[in-house]
Amino acid sequence: MSGKKVLKYACDLDKSVTVTNFERRGWTCVGNDEDWNFYWATVQSVRNLFSVDNSYRMTDDQVVNHFPNHYELTRKDLMVKNIKRFRRDLEKEGNPLAEKDETGRYIHLDFIPVTFMLPADYNLFVEEFRKNPSSTWIMKPCGKARGIGIFLINKLSQLKKWSRDSKTNTFTAPSAKDTYVISRYIDNPLLIGGKKFDLRLYVLVTSYRPLKCYMFRLGFCRFCTVKYNASTTELDNMFVHLTNVSIQKHGDDYNQVHGGKWTVHNLKVFLEGTRGKEVTDKLFDDMHWCIVNSLKAVSGVIANDRHCFEVYGYDIIIDDNLKPWLIEVNASPSLTSTTSSDRIMKYKMINDTINVVIPPGELPDVRWNKVPAKESLGNYDLLYDEDLAQTDILAQDVKGRLTTTIPGSRAGKDRQRLAQATWK
Ligand SMILES: Nc1ncnc2c1ncn2[C@@H]1O[C@H](COP(=O)(O)OP(=O)(O)O)[C@@H](O)[C@H]1O
Ligand SMILES: [Mg+2]
Repeated sequence: MSGKKVLKYACDLDKSVTVTNFERRGWTCVGNDEDWNFYWATVQSVRNLFSVDNSYRMTDDQVVNHFPNHYELTRKDLMVKNIKRFRRDLEKEGNPLAEKDETGRYIHLDFIPVTFMLPADYNLFVEEFRKNPSSTWIMKPCGKARGIGIFLINKLSQLKKWSRDSKTNTFTAPSAKDTYVISRYIDNPLLIGGKKFDLRLYVLVTSYRPLKCYMFRLGFCRFCTVKYNASTTELDNMFVHLTNVSIQKHGDDYNQVHGGKWTVHNLKVFLEGTRGKEVTDKLFDDMHWCIVNSLKAVSGVIANDRHCFEVYGYDIIIDDNLKPWLIEVNASPSLTSTTSSDRIMKYKMINDTINVVIPPGELPDVRWNKVPAKESLGNYDLLYDEDLAQTDILAQDVKGRLTTTIPGSRAGKDRQRLAQATWK
């Protein structure tokens, strides 16, 4: 046997939460064109890595932190397109999850705000807008992040003005960078201390087929610095409406100590105290359910390369009925630390991610079955494992048959409950 092999890493991001971690593990730094085992790359580098023009061929002992076409989930327009298609497919196969109410709204799968692509779906949008002309909509450029280029509208004339002012000038043949999504603005967000916030949750996917994903327990809430006000005179005040830290940190009332952040744990304790444990548990279950379904919606289209894993930053808004709404999924959630607890949390996120994707003390091995030991999970909880869910479904069938033979049993309810358990 040869001696213990030292793992070689490449890293595009010069962030302390990544590099310090790799160094503490005794890993050796190499260039990204060298013989690395672990590569923390930008999405641009991953695009080059998987490009057909590239002669670099990965071996079994190499892993990288993005899937080649992650944008199917992480580009605002494509995420919506894939979720819409997923719902239609479930509906076609008669799946009870795709059930609709009398107004045609999905009862269970209504977890993203109504969204249209612009300019492509302009006419559909106008039709929807006219049904409810007093509503507010949010315009977001597909190719940008950190709140850049976002604005709110509540009149069609504002959209017409935008189309006149934008360089394309007409609603035809735009390039990808000129496309927008327009979504119904969630105007009744849950407020704490009068302020709007959203959640940033980290979700690790180690495989899409079968789907295997993990939820990082140390997510956080990002608060606005200014009290929420749905009044139309404040529509252009981004300190009221956008929770991005990159925007809020320029606010006069930005707090350097806590950075406008609360841990998800604090949120949970607060909600249990103010609203009760049962509804809080349901909210967290609903959030997990919507994340799993967003991943299922793309599991058929993402190239399930065995060299890849990915940590997504989920943006979720909770409304005042405690319903979670999926806003967007980020492929490169910020690793910049705004406070010291932020740095510790992000360090743990990188650390736990590595422990899940590489068996301890070993080199990566893409032939591995990707079932980490319980002790390796750290702050991650298993969110969904399609293999396990399959065994659950088998058990469910048996139980379903058993319960139906018992007269007067609550077979339907039991089956419904069991069906819900399969996404856990
Ligand atoms: N439909 C919506 N309803 C209410 N607020 C929204 C909605 N969409 C986005 N926001 C707010 O705007 C912020 C930025 O939107 P997001 O889609 O995450 O784009 P970005 O890529 O710029 O972060 C969100 O974090 C949230 O605070
Ligand atoms: Mg965002």
